Amino acid sequence: MPFRPTRKPACPGRAGICKLPRRSISTEAPLTRRALITGITGQDGSYLAEHLVDMGYEVFGLVRGQANPRVRHLRQRLGEVRLIRGDLLDQGSLIAAVERVQPDEVYNLAAISYVPMSWQQAELTGEVTGLGVLRVLEAIRVCSGISASRSPGSGQIRFYQASTSEMFGQVDESPQNERTPFHPRSPYGVAKVYGHFLTQNYRESYGMYAVSGIMFNHESPRRGAEFVTRKVSLGVAQIKLGYERQLRLGNLTASRDWGFAGDYVRAMQLMLTQDTPADYVIGTGVTHSVEKLVDTAFRAAGLEWHDHVVTDAAFIRPAEVDRLCADPSKARDELGWEPKIGFEELVAMMVDADFELLSAAGDSGAEEYTTDSW
Ligand code: GDD
Repeated sequence: MPFRPTRKPACPGRAGICKLPRRSISTEAPLTRRALITGITGQDGSYLAEHLVDMGYEVFGLVRGQANPRVRHLRQRLGEVRLIRGDLLDQGSLIAAVERVQPDEVYNLAAISYVPMSWQQAELTGEVTGLGVLRVLEAIRVCSGISASRSPGSGQIRFYQASTSEMFGQVDESPQNERTPFHPRSPYGVAKVYGHFLTQNYRESYGMYAVSGIMFNHESPRRGAEFVTRKVSLGVAQIKLGYERQLRLGNLTASRDWGFAGDYVRAMQLMLTQDTPADYVIGTGVTHSVEKLVDTAFRAAGLEWHDHVVTDAAFIRPAEVDRLCADPSKARDELGWEPKIGFEELVAMMVDADFELLSAAGDSGAEEYTTDSW
């Protein structure tokens, strides 16, 4: 029997929770599941929040900072989500958030996730991306009254950790599955390995329902402009509109297994509904080089990439992950999960979206979406 958590009574208007205006208000509080998402203002957080709201969840998002500009975008997109302040660097704020929200499920998506930045701010990356996982797990453990001598009961909080294919790094086998050894190549990858093993350890030490999704690269029109897919789709749109002539990129030979972020958040939710907690590789099973990505994106706009793309040593990383490709068969067999959107469709979707975005924003708006990252 798949897991069906029972609902605690809703507790609206508790201190510290900033309730956003609702798109449609449900006055009755049904026996819905309640989810707390860290990193809700990011790409994955926004898709996951939408997915969970559509499934009838009550969704809470942890937001940090005083005037986080991303909150405005989230407000526009998702009125149903309630925001609560907290920070992965602040243990007390996480305990307070879990105590107030009383979630059935916690999704830890918050991280410093841009790989090059992890060399520039390695310590901060370790604090947020690595130790942040410990703090969220501890908040759940403390609020649930779990200890070495006291196991969680049946209504325990379920925890999802956003692990990553960057943990595989320099691979000896391809495709990569749940048993492939890790050899991370960046401070980011190392921090994620810590979070991954810690999640496993809390499962084994305390019997907590704590799982990791080892997600391969997942993209969308909501992707940050610093990541290569969005940098390329924005660059193509800028060139097509005549705002730019060149796009400067780093290593074109690296290969990634790129999927659509909207597909991947479905897997996150499915992972928390299984009888037995387990980790899963999530990817498409198909890999493409950065050069192929570039070629596909430029052709989608009727352009020839050789006329515009310049390779620039400034974008080469101190240590590269050359090639990643997922073996998602466990997720397919046990979760029934499959991606719906393929590579070509994804790239076309992103190019179209950026062309529309920049057409509407005009020349000056294009500056907001700079592709000068790292
Ligand atoms: N960002 C970027 N910018 N990457 C470039 C560029 C460039 O100008 N030129 C070439 N690349 C190459 C990188 O060297 C890398 O091999 C590849 O494009 C993908 O880079 P990113 O899009 O930055 O993603 P990533 O693979 O390093 O990491 C992303 O995916 C991981 C999942 O495997 C991030 O989202 C991570 O947070 C995530 O864990």
